[in-house]
Amino acid sequence: MNFIRTSLLVACAIAAPLAIGQTAPKLKVGLMLPYTGTYASLGTAIENGFRLYVTEQGGKIGGREVEYIKVDDESDPSKATDNVNKLVKRDHVDVLVGSVHSGVAMAMAKVAKDTGTLLIVPNAGAEAVTGSMCAPNIFRSSFTNWQPGYAMGEYMAKKGLKKVVTITWKYAAGDESANGFKEAFEKNGGKVLKELNLPFPNVEFQALLTEIAATKPDAVYTFFAGGGAVKFVKDYAAAGLKKNIPLYGAGFTTDGTLEAQGDAAADVMTTLHYADSLGTPRDNAFRLAYAKTYKLQPDVYAVQGYDAAQILGIGLLATKGDASKKAEFAAAVEKARIDSPRGTFTLSKSHNPVQDIYLRQVVGKENKLVSVASKALADPARGCKM
Ligand code: PHB
Repeated sequence: MNFIRTSLLVACAIAAPLAIGQTAPKLKVGLMLPYTGTYASLGTAIENGFRLYVTEQGGKIGGREVEYIKVDDESDPSKATDNVNKLVKRDHVDVLVGSVHSGVAMAMAKVAKDTGTLLIVPNAGAEAVTGSMCAPNIFRSSFTNWQPGYAMGEYMAKKGLKKVVTITWKYAAGDESANGFKEAFEKNGGKVLKELNLPFPNVEFQALLTEIAATKPDAVYTFFAGGGAVKFVKDYAAAGLKKNIPLYGAGFTTDGTLEAQGDAAADVMTTLHYADSLGTPRDNAFRLAYAKTYKLQPDVYAVQGYDAAQILGIGLLATKGDASKKAEFAAAVEKARIDSPRGTFTLSKSHNPVQDIYLRQVVGKENKLVSVASKALADPARGCKM
């Protein structure tokens, strides 16, 4: 009898920690990203980067195993509120990660603000997310649309270019990128002659290219990304514009797109918070691990996904895995230096990266580092009260 009781006790003592380990709830990460449409490859790169960091941590973040719940947001703002509500109210995710498209991200930020759900934005540059909508539970691992635009405006004006036409998609990302460019370019003596645009995600560029040819600016500044950027850069070259009217842009225009753009992208200069040839040990290790895992070269989107996971890890380390302890989470992230492949960065008070913006030039299949266009550039975070 005694023997049986002792055996049972021993068995329970051995089994108990295992049982606890098995039932410890997984950390539910809601990935709301585009997996179809012009931004599909961007969504995949973000997920790849996020998963790579989690895998490097043994599959756990904040001591909890990670479970992914995925939604294809199709870069469609009209479906975004329903999509994000599914993740928050049906799936009860601990954290939202998304998205690429600024309009979708603003809908996510609204729901995150209203419900208090943790949100990490791994791309979308909408200024409102860390501006008028800023909140203690909203973070961004990427950039604001203003940042690369502003850095390029300064660079092009200082280079002596005087008259520029901008061309982009008509939505928050395009508008804000072109406005950031214009702000710096005109402050430094340049003039934006025309602000051309077309609806997202249209790619019928011909009439606008004809207008550029007729306007004869010194140069063009552009923001496109993904499939649209591939077509724009090819059409610009095919229209014979490149030689007389050099093309400049936010780095998205040539990031993750060079294989498809081929020679059409040669020499194009862009500004971005990443480049293909940084050559730091941190970036080299990241690039090697990414290439081995996915048989693909990483791009800026992969870096932003990786860093979204790093930010989550830093916050959850401080809360011992509890995503609901928002003040402690935010305090830890706010004082962190994030060891990114792009170079270390901090988050501003409004939770947007304060980071170096690089000037890059397309050489072969790479966005080669030329110089640092703007050191530790912080978005002005207009409208953020926090
Ligand atoms: C955006 O909508 O904010 C956006 C989309 C794609 C990019 C960059 C920004 O590459």
